[in-house]
Order: sequence, then structure tokens, then C-alpha cells
Amino acid sequence: MSNTIDEAIRDPKNLGEMTGADAVGTAGSGDCGDMLRMWIKFRDEGGRRVIDRATFQSFGCQTAIAVASMATELIKGKTPQEAMEMSGEDLSAPLGPLPPMKIHCAQLVEGALKNALTGGEAAPVAPSAPVLADSLQPKGSVKITFR
Ligand code: FES
Repeated sequence: MSNTIDEAIRDPKNLGEMTGADAVGTAGSGDCGDMLRMWIKFRDEGGRRVIDRATFQSFGCQTAIAVASMATELIKGKTPQEAMEMSGEDLSAPLGPLPPMKIHCAQLVEGALKNALTGGEAAPVAPSAPVLADSLQPKGSVKITFR
């Protein structure tokens, strides 16, 4: 792994649930079963609705955490349309190329982002991926704590 990924794993940005979020999205990976949830808050900027900030929780691997950390920074200030156009590759680009077996980790982040921006409906990241969002619906309280 590159140093940049290592750094993002050591000190992930925007980690944790956001209270008062405008949008929430969840995606699950059919490749490994990992899941990721993203919260988004919008703001008005000169009459345009843009992403003010985003946070995430990962029920998954460290690469997904690194990409989500990067992605939640990259989408700040973008309109929902602009963010919708970003691929997993775009969202992970500053981390450098991902190994082939980790490309789906970036797609997991893309899936959660797109799911949030399209109203939080179930959005599997790959056509073959099972819909895992339902199993993530809070029953009681489920919290993952990172140390
Ligand atoms: Fe599956 Fe990273 S190994 S999300």
C-alpha cells in the first residue's frame, strides 16, 4: 500500500455518524461483504445546493476507510450532480492506483455516495452484489468504534 493510503488509514477524516444529515446512503460489496454508510449535509452557495460536508462509517476494510476519508473531502463544495459523476476511481485518485483486488473498495464508497444522493434507496455497487442496505437498518443501536 502507498504511504498516502497508510496515512489515510492512520488518520481518517470525517469518520463517524452525522446527526442532522440531509442524506444517508449505504452500500454493500458483493465481493467481500463489507459495508459502508455515508452521511451528507448540504448548504446553499449562491443559489446552488452544494455538499457542505460528509461523514462515513465503514463496516469494512482499511482501503475502503482510506477511500471514504478521501472521498468525503473531495466532494465538499460539489453539487449533487457533480458528485454523482465521480467514479470510484475519481474518489480514490489522490491515493494513487489501487491494486486490482482493492478496486471494489473504491466502488463501495462510490455506491454509498450515490445511494445517499439518490435518496438512500438500496444501491448495490455491482450488478451481482446483494442488497445489504436492509440488513444495515438500525435495529437498536449498532455502532462501530475505531481506535
Ligand atoms: Fe472489500 Fe475492501 S476488501 S471493501
